[in-house]
Amino acid sequence: MVAMQVSGLSVPEINAALETSWLGQQVVYHSCVGSTNDEAKGLAEVGAPEGTLVIADYQTAGRGRLDRLWWSPPGSGLLLSLIFRPTFLMPQQAQRVAMVCSLAVCDAVAEVTGLAPAIKWPNDVLIEGRKVGGLLTELGIAASRLDHVVVGIGVNVNVEFEGSGAPALMTSATSLKAELGSEVSRLMLLAALLRCVEARYERLRAGVLPHDEWQSRLVTLGQAVRVTMPGRVLAGRAVGVDADGALLVRRSDGETERVLAGDVTLRSEG
Ligand code: BTN
Repeated sequence: MVAMQVSGLSVPEINAALETSWLGQQVVYHSCVGSTNDEAKGLAEVGAPEGTLVIADYQTAGRGRLDRLWWSPPGSGLLLSLIFRPTFLMPQQAQRVAMVCSLAVCDAVAEVTGLAPAIKWPNDVLIEGRKVGGLLTELGIAASRLDHVVVGIGVNVNVEFEGSGAPALMTSATSLKAELGSEVSRLMLLAALLRCVEARYERLRAGVLPHDEWQSRLVTLGQAVRVTMPGRVLAGRAVGVDADGALLVRRSDGETERVLAGDVTLRSEG
C-alpha cells in the first residue's frame, strides 16, 4: 500500500480565509465524517444558526441525489454543507436556495480557475460536459413552514479518477485538477464560494430571483431529454424552468410537463 500525504483543512485556516460576514462564521470541521449533510441536518434540528458550515476532508457515506454515493478520496474534494433558515420562502420555493448555491459554485470555480462551468438540471456543475460538482438539498419543515434548508456541496477539486478505484458512476466525472493540469487550493475555492453564496443569498432575501441567470447557465435547455422518475421515464424537449427550478419538458404530443425531481439524460449523451 502506498502511503498518501493528505493535507487537511483546519478551523483556524478556514476562519482566517473567510471573506463573509455571516456565512461560515460557525464552522464544524471533521477530518472524517459519514456525511456532512447528515451532520448539518442534525445540527439544524437542534437550532444551529443560519450560516453554519459543516466541512470535512473525507466522508465515509457521502450522498448524492437519488440515493447515489458521492465519492471523494481524503483531502481532495470540497465537501461541505451549509445551513440556511430562509423564513422568507415557502417550502415549495426552497429550491431557490440551491439555485443561488449552484450559481455561486460556478462563480467561484470561474474566479479561482478561469474555467467556464455550466449547470445541468437540477444542480450538477459541469465543465466541458463532465460533472465536476453536485448539490444535495434537504429541507426541514415544521408546522408547514420552512425551518431550515441544508445545501450539501461537493466539488471534485484535486480528485484523480484514473486508476483510483472510483466507482463506475463517477468515471465520467472530472476534477478541477484534471481540467487545469495543476492543483487548486481548496481553501481559496472555499473562501470564494462562501463569499459568492452569501452575496447571492442576500440578493434572494431582498427579493431578487436567481431564475433568469440560472436558466441562462443551464446546458439542459433546448435539448432533447429523457427524465427518469420513480416508476416512469419522460421523453421530450427541455423548454424552460420556472421560478422554483422545476424543469418544463415538452412532450411529442405538445403537452408540457413540470418536473420537480428526476434524473435527466441529454439524449445527445446517448
Ligand atoms: C449530486 O450530485 O447528486 C449531489 C452531490 C452532493 C455531494 C455533497 S458532498 C458534501 C455533502 N455531503 C453529502 O453527503 N453530500 C453532499
